[in-house]
Amino acid sequence: KPSPAAAPERLPFSRITPEDLAFFREILPGRTITDPDLLESSNVDWLKTVRGSSEVLLRPQTTEEVSRILKYCNSRNLAVNPQGGNTGLVGGSVPVYDEIILSTALMNNILTFHSISGILTCQSGCVLENLSLYLEERDFIMPLDLGAKGSCHIGGNVATNAGGLRLLRYGSLHGTVLGLEVVLADGQVLDCLATLRKDNTGYDLKQLFIGSEGTLGVITAVSILCPRKPRSVNVVFLGCETFEQLLKTFQLCRGMLGEILSAYEFLDSECMRLLNTHLKLPNPISDCPFYVVIETSGSDATHDGEKLHNFLDEAMTSSLVMDGTVATEDSKIKALWSMRERVTESLTHDGFTYKYDISLPLEQLYQLVTDMREHLGDRAKSVVGYGHVGDGNLHLNITSPAKDPALLAAIEPFVYEWTAKCQGSISAEHGLGLKKRNYIYYSKPSQAVALMSNIKAMLDPKGILNPYKTLPDNLK
Ligand code: FAD
Ligand code: MLT
Ligand code: ZN
Repeated sequence: KPSPAAAPERLPFSRITPEDLAFFREILPGRTITDPDLLESSNVDWLKTVRGSSEVLLRPQTTEEVSRILKYCNSRNLAVNPQGGNTGLVGGSVPVYDEIILSTALMNNILTFHSISGILTCQSGCVLENLSLYLEERDFIMPLDLGAKGSCHIGGNVATNAGGLRLLRYGSLHGTVLGLEVVLADGQVLDCLATLRKDNTGYDLKQLFIGSEGTLGVITAVSILCPRKPRSVNVVFLGCETFEQLLKTFQLCRGMLGEILSAYEFLDSECMRLLNTHLKLPNPISDCPFYVVIETSGSDATHDGEKLHNFLDEAMTSSLVMDGTVATEDSKIKALWSMRERVTESLTHDGFTYKYDISLPLEQLYQLVTDMREHLGDRAKSVVGYGHVGDGNLHLNITSPAKDPALLAAIEPFVYEWTAKCQGSISAEHGLGLKKRNYIYYSKPSQAVALMSNIKAMLDPKGILNPYKTLPDNLK
């Protein structure tokens, strides 16, 4: 019996012909890539767990070019895989078979920035970190930040509705994205690139494309609301004895830090072991079962420092935390953040990684890790938990020396059934892509999935955009 995560049969899309290549070369001279060596990195995902066999990589620079490509592909029934920085973690960013890869890498211009409103408009292929650097020079920041910032594109972030490390403070992209320009499957350009905070003129169509994982249209430009750069930033790294104490510490810091709290992230001692072993990152405090990264961002260093001091005092005297260290200068702030941001990288050195990205009620967040450890016994190499406590988002990762179908069968559907019992979500922020699409019913009623499928059929009747992704193989 094939695993529900396996790819279905290739759908009857056309195969690329020399005439198709001649068309692409005419509209994208020098930017139609067919050399297998150059295509290799676009055919394999970041985790190196999914591999496609595309023979063509297109690198448009303008919306007009994207429109011409899609109009042509739709008329020829050629499947297309939109790709940004290829850092996605659910197998959505690479082809399954021979889909044409449409990369946004050369669509990397900033279009406008308004320093009073803080609204940035840019092409979708801008790398997140480059946008952050551009804004920081102007005293602003991006409302999102993630470990993949050096490679991921803003279009990819929007297409996956990426959460990341600042969601607790600035909210999701459903709130901060003000407008999108999207090229639909038939080449029509949908101009919803508004730069308004408020616009209730009917349905908010851009929301459909936020988190649509390249299945409904190709995002070509984004306008986004950016916060002012905080004048004072502090990072605290704390250790707790139990997860219950970690949650009590969260409650305390919400109360005592209030509006300056900008992140509350955690990792367990197994993550710390992997950081020490594989990346040689030393533990900045003494060994503890759980670690927390707390960030404050505010406008007054004295005020923020005082609040933080009072919070730490209370947390220590009430024995909620076992140990801790504080950073105010940039280099130490970066070093403490690495302990959280580089867990993903450390896992890739530990072995083949099975990744789960789960939303759960806070009280049950870590119980899943404990239960999974007990359930798997010594069948797994490492079972680790980390994530965005402030957002109720657990990252449960399990490694084995190599790909292990028996281990996978022990993890799934156990993990999904456990999540569904708590009314959680089987994908908090990474999306469904290829790997998770057939588990959608654990988190969405069949009526909602049927409606999603109708929307897909309306916007992309031939199904050329990112086939085999997001939607399940079977409708119930
Ligand atoms: P890709 O990986 O290229 O594509 C992702 C999906 O979006 C695919 O389905 C693709 O078809 C589609 N897509 C890409 N561009 C477009 C476009 N212009 N139009 C339409 N569809 C498009 N995610 C989080 O939510 N939070 C995190 O904290 C986080 N941290 C990460 C840390 C690391 C080290 C890594 C490797 C990944 C992390 N991710 C995180 C995963 C996350 O999904 C991506 O990093 C990011 O949002 C994807 O952007 P990308 O440009 O790489 O998109
Ligand atoms: C994170 O929060 O570190 C990312 O979502 C990546 C991951 O889950 O490994
Ligand atoms: Zn995450």
